[in-house]
Amino acid sequence: MPFYHTLGKIPPKRHTIFKKPDGSLYYEQLFGTIGFDGMSTNLYHCQRPTQVKEIKGSYSVAPKVAIKNNIKSYRLHGFKVNQEKDYLQSRKNVLTNSDVNIILSAPQESTNQYFYKNTDADELLFIHRGTGKFRSHLGNLDFKYGDYIVIPRGTIYKLDFDTTDNRLFIVESRRPIYTPKRYRNWFGQLLEHSPYCERDLRTPYELETNDEKGDFLIKVKKQDEIFDMIYATHPFDVVGYDGFNFPYAFSIHDFEPITGRIHQPPPVHQTFETDAFVICSFVPRLYDYHPDSIPAPYNHSNIDSDEVLYYVDGDFMSRNDIDAGHISLHPAGIPHGPHPGAAERSIGKTKTDELAVMVDTFKPLMITEEAMKIADEDYHKSWLE
Ligand SMILES: [Fe+2]
Repeated sequence: MPFYHTLGKIPPKRHTIFKKPDGSLYYEQLFGTIGFDGMSTNLYHCQRPTQVKEIKGSYSVAPKVAIKNNIKSYRLHGFKVNQEKDYLQSRKNVLTNSDVNIILSAPQESTNQYFYKNTDADELLFIHRGTGKFRSHLGNLDFKYGDYIVIPRGTIYKLDFDTTDNRLFIVESRRPIYTPKRYRNWFGQLLEHSPYCERDLRTPYELETNDEKGDFLIKVKKQDEIFDMIYATHPFDVVGYDGFNFPYAFSIHDFEPITGRIHQPPPVHQTFETDAFVICSFVPRLYDYHPDSIPAPYNHSNIDSDEVLYYVDGDFMSRNDIDAGHISLHPAGIPHGPHPGAAERSIGKTKTDELAVMVDTFKPLMITEEAMKIADEDYHKSWLE
């Protein structure tokens, strides 16, 4: 997160005496990234955050790859992914490479029995259906339809749903997720041409401080395994913090589209960046206003990146037979473009209500066994006349 945030109580100086009302010390923790070079936050705990009681065992959540070297375009029926009561059980990894996992998740229940921490990756949750509260040791965020929640690696969190019909599109990134550098000035402030600004980013607003001892299960993801770790203190026992490393939310509905006289390329939709992939938001917008413009995209080749589109809402103008919850995968090296009739259909249209999230990865994606359960094997032939 490229700006400073503080929540709760902190002492006036870092690394100095900070006392509880009973005279004992709070316990400081630096929550940092990239050694001591990346973004960091200073936390103050009621109890030592290091009190591991027991490590109960582990199990693998490594994606099971069905197709390693993929040349075919695929459509996945995302809403065919089964609902599961439990959040972690519900996470179905459909596309994967060494940088990123693309996951569909339909949890029916809140995470009540455990806390979750991903030490492998930053997570980006896109809320397609459902409302509730994201709760973490760095504070809470409310979420609803259209929200991205960016969760830095190491954040201990739970999801409390108000709803049972929940659909999440999750990007698990081994590379840090940032706001695009070209949107920021040399101080880190988002520039005037950025499609969103700091005012659109929602920071944790509520800090839960539970000064409790007992048995607290944290499911810790590390190197594609989940370790069941029992801690002797409540993980949400922070009394205050400040810094740059914390979860935040951004609604896709607050993304201001950039339009032009002729078709604008996907980089105008960019929302987040990593050094391994980009994330773009396609939002309702006015179409191009040149009198002879063709609003549908032209055919294009992703010579060196795989393109994943997750369709959220509205009528996606360049595709026939695409619905909410579908994923299209267009692999690197293979040209793709509008379906037959789509370019002609788009001429003269003045606006679109499409809503979609795109992930373009620089390394090829492998297709998992979970993806094959919901895959349309003939999608790659859908351009034939
Ligand atoms: Fe494309």
